[in-house]
Amino acid sequence: MSAHPDSALCCVEDMRVAARRRVPRMFYDYADSGSWTESTYRANEADFQKIKLRQRVAVDMTNRSLRTTMAGESVAMPVAIAPTGLTGMQHADGEILAARAAKAFGIPFTLSTMSICSIEDVAEHVKAPFWFQLYVMRDRSFVENLIDRARAAGCSALMVTLDLQILGQRHKDVRNAMTAPPKLTLRNLLNLATKPAWCAGMLGTKRHTFRNIVGHAKGVTDLGSLGAWTAEQFDPQLNWESIAWIKRYWGGKLILKGVLDAEDARMAAACGVDAIVVSNHGGRQLDGALSSINALPAIVDAVGDQVEIWMDGGVRSGQDVLKAVALGARGTLIGRAFLYGLGARGEAGVSRVLEILKKELDVTMALCGKRDIHDVDASVLVPGTYPTADRIV
Ligand SMILES: Cc1cc2nc3c(=O)[nH]c(=O)nc-3n(C[C@H](O)[C@H](O)[C@H](O)COP(=O)(O)O)c2cc1C
Repeated sequence: MSAHPDSALCCVEDMRVAARRRVPRMFYDYADSGSWTESTYRANEADFQKIKLRQRVAVDMTNRSLRTTMAGESVAMPVAIAPTGLTGMQHADGEILAARAAKAFGIPFTLSTMSICSIEDVAEHVKAPFWFQLYVMRDRSFVENLIDRARAAGCSALMVTLDLQILGQRHKDVRNAMTAPPKLTLRNLLNLATKPAWCAGMLGTKRHTFRNIVGHAKGVTDLGSLGAWTAEQFDPQLNWESIAWIKRYWGGKLILKGVLDAEDARMAAACGVDAIVVSNHGGRQLDGALSSINALPAIVDAVGDQVEIWMDGGVRSGQDVLKAVALGARGTLIGRAFLYGLGARGEAGVSRVLEILKKELDVTMALCGKRDIHDVDASVLVPGTYPTADRIV
């Protein structure tokens, strides 16, 4: 089958198909999978589809604006790039390319602790502030090291991920024996032979493994020691006191990611943070948990008057962004949507995904009879089709 011409890449689903052709199987599968039965992964997208929009007519649809703020930063639309591990394996130098696309578009980029390009590398090549996502590790001196480096690199917010104290399992990663860089087994070599553009990119870069960690964490000097370190470093004892300590140590804008329950949201809000991200890690952790869009209203109801609420999980279109905003999210994060663009076409692919989402959001908002994203509320949704604080769809 011939590849899509770029002009025919009309939606995020087109990008997913194009990425699957271009990216080696173990890394494509790493992105396009969820934990265990993948029920929460699927629900994140499917539950958006259940919500219906109210079409309005004969209202003035001129002079529209999607511009808003997230944690005080001006954004071209209520979307930021979510932190994703191994992004530099979807495409050579992936984090740098995605951060550049985000900067050009006017939305925030979040760099994962488990990135391939390091904090310093992204700062040097992008020359604009970005957000840094922190996994809390048992080795607190390494956590301090990461925070110090994020501060020195000029990161404008720290996003602490709460929902990965222990690792969920994705069957595909086990079956593919996923590593970064990939082990050169016969099976992998046969697959790599069908991905020449990806291979050419990787041969042209030195960024092949977790560069925030190797050479920085105690005892991690190569791939062998990295695997053992990662497996035992995520801190199962992480608690609200750890968050208070991180807040003091960092001293800047703080975002807590991975809250799905209203009771936890109250604890998170009490920490005095700048935003909470309603998230189930894209269906990659607790399989069977609520979809993020179903979890959102109860959290908005509980603490939406105290702190900014954002959400991620299943956002694949501008219609999804509008629905999340209608249910009280100040902003959304996109994970797979940008990864597919990156895998398919590098920096241009991420830019294209952002353009697609913006156009879809703009037209959808207009057809719902609104001109300013700040005026979007549940009145754009058909009653009975959307979740509320005490009802899921
Ligand atoms: C391939 C992949 C890697 C991820 N790695 C991280 C990570 O390193 N840190 C983190 O906080 N979240 C990580 N996430 C979760 C995302 O930040 C985000 O919550 C999720 O992707 C949102 O769902 P979506 O992919 O449906 O948009 C990852 C998600 C994916 C798909």
